[in-house]
Amino acid sequence: MRIDVLTIFPSLFDSFLNESLLKKAIEKGVVDVRVHDLREYSANKHKNVDDAPFGGGAGMVMTPQPIADAIESLKGEALKKESRSKTILLDPGGKRFDQKLAKELSTFDRLILICGRYEGVDERIAENFADEVISIGDFVLSGGEVAAMAVTEAVFRLLPGAIGNVESLKDESFERGFLEYPQYTRPEDFRGFKAPEVLLSGHHENIEKWRRQKALEKTATIRPDLLPDVVMEGGAADIKFSIALVHYPVEGKSGNEMTSSVTTLDVHDLARIGKTFGAKIVYIVTPVEDQQRLVERIRMHWATEERLQQMDARRSAALDTIKVVSSVDEIIEGTKGKTIKLLATSATEMENAVSPAEWRKIAAQNPDDEWIVLFGTAYGLGKSLVARADSRLLPIAGASEFNHLPVRGASAIILHSLIGRSKEKQK
Ligand SMILES: C[S@@+](CC[C@H](N)C(=O)[O-])C[C@H]1O[C@@H](n2cnc3c(N)ncnc32)[C@H](O)[C@@H]1O
Repeated sequence: MRIDVLTIFPSLFDSFLNESLLKKAIEKGVVDVRVHDLREYSANKHKNVDDAPFGGGAGMVMTPQPIADAIESLKGEALKKESRSKTILLDPGGKRFDQKLAKELSTFDRLILICGRYEGVDERIAENFADEVISIGDFVLSGGEVAAMAVTEAVFRLLPGAIGNVESLKDESFERGFLEYPQYTRPEDFRGFKAPEVLLSGHHENIEKWRRQKALEKTATIRPDLLPDVVMEGGAADIKFSIALVHYPVEGKSGNEMTSSVTTLDVHDLARIGKTFGAKIVYIVTPVEDQQRLVERIRMHWATEERLQQMDARRSAALDTIKVVSSVDEIIEGTKGKTIKLLATSATEMENAVSPAEWRKIAAQNPDDEWIVLFGTAYGLGKSLVARADSRLLPIAGASEFNHLPVRGASAIILHSLIGRSKEKQK
């Protein structure tokens, strides 16, 4: 790759290019970085590169002529045939630079980086000469040189042959959507602060597990904004979950715990909603035996009747996820060896309730756990069930005080906000 930097302060790059891994990469021919003094391209006899802004205002603006001429002259130097090149203006008003963009840029054969100074660069450069405008963060530097160094540094290390140990790139922050796990080295005990024992155990499986856990915890605490993407990767597949439509224990009108009746419409719709968001199983919880038989009959009817399967294969597939159980405990007993976590939902605010994003962070911390999202019928889940849930979700709030939604509507909204769309579908 060749990187051409356009700047009015070329000497700022002297030591940057002559130290450490970048120096080695240049020596090995992995990357060729050339720094050009923009003043040399100025058509002005005083070699000026800036002028007062049209319309008045403080400071000076970089004129377009030296920059445009430099770009054209560099592009005129043929690299190899079919080389892919990108001209980038560094500007705080540009697209935010990140690891994904660094990876994308590393696939080009040539980058031309334009460093602004003063109040910035005449807009006609961004509009007509640059392919992309990039910012390295939401802060203002005095010039684009440090930004150009940041882009060069992030990009060159991704080039083949730049880094001796390619493995070391694999686990780095942002590579898998997480921050990197914490690292430790000798001594084991530094002033009484001990390195984690598991890292000294030599047990690779445990070390891997610990590192994944710590990377998740660190990301959840420091950069929770990264997590929704992580846990949604591949859609619901990343959070293992089932849903349960509970008919006992639920609340009656006067707050008493009671058993409600199964509604066939609920069974059909919950199955379709669960299937849409990737629920493993759609549990119908009722202790009433004839109602259990009713649900089982609906399921079997659609699962075994060939005529129905041909008529509506999608509905058959959805109903096939139904499982009838007499209680929530039966769900837990039936999933031995796995850690089951209960998430309670309600139209009224429950103690310590969390938002969907907060729940995703909680779920991401222990990716092996299996969650059961509980939906109540009648006047909502019974208090005894809410009390034993591992997490409680904030109620759905609409535009008015009224939020008495039917369970079929509420479950669709809740699963959409909890699980969202799969990465593939977002594209
Ligand atoms: C003082 S800044 C100009 C800021 C401009 N007036 C504004 O408010 O957006 C001068 C130059 O520094 C560079 N620069 C400053 N902050 C940057 C950032 N966060 N990312 C990339 N380049 C930056 C740009 O090249 C910019 O033209």
